[in-house]
Amino acid sequence: MTCRIHPSILSADFANLETELLRIHTADAVHVDVMDGHFVPNLTLGLPVVQRLGQVTGLPLDVHLMIEDADRWAPGYAEAGAASVTFHAEASAAPVRLARELRSAGARASMALRPATPIEPYLDLLPELDMVLIMTVEPGFGGQSFLDVTLPKIRRARQAVDGTGLPIAIQVDGGISRDTIRRAADAGADVFVAGSAVYGAVDPAAAVDTLRNLAGADPAQM
Ligand code: DX5
Ligand code: ZN
Repeated sequence: MTCRIHPSILSADFANLETELLRIHTADAVHVDVMDGHFVPNLTLGLPVVQRLGQVTGLPLDVHLMIEDADRWAPGYAEAGAASVTFHAEASAAPVRLARELRSAGARASMALRPATPIEPYLDLLPELDMVLIMTVEPGFGGQSFLDVTLPKIRRARQAVDGTGLPIAIQVDGGISRDTIRRAADAGADVFVAGSAVYGAVDPAAAVDTLRNLAGADPAQM
């Protein structure tokens, strides 16, 4: 399985985002956390900033929308050129229609689940999606501790995705570090968001490579 690392710029210096993107040149994509202060109790950035980030980086943008009324706002991020747009299942009234809109706007369609949201009601929707994001913390803030209670859901997601035979990615987000990434990888995740573990490092580009190696390491070699 190919393991991909998406650093979250939530832990970057917001006054110097262009420079901060250069510091993660080894990343597979950049994870952009959009929060509206309603779906989560925090406020970050929105469409104009995402548009500008796309102009100054060669990395694909992986936009994670933690906003209410995703049906209304998410397509704009796909039209802005995001490679992937993730909406929350809890914030979409019509996830199939929304996923189709995202794909037809040229983005990969992805759906996120908060820790307490089960995946089972959404299994039939998997063919409409390119990625499922299993939140491994309660969304809203960087620097929280990885929730091991989410591991069984990652395992069930992996089983279901493999059952479709489709190349649907399983992303994990929250508390991913050198200490936790292996547990998430073993459970079946293949795309890893890491904020503080990357930007808290002296050399963020090297931290990305270390995390990728830890995620992809053959357990027999460890
Ligand atoms: C949290 C965000 C995450 C956050 C992860 O709600 O969705 O992307 O930046 O930060 P760490 O890796 O520090 O937990
Ligand atoms: Zn995120």
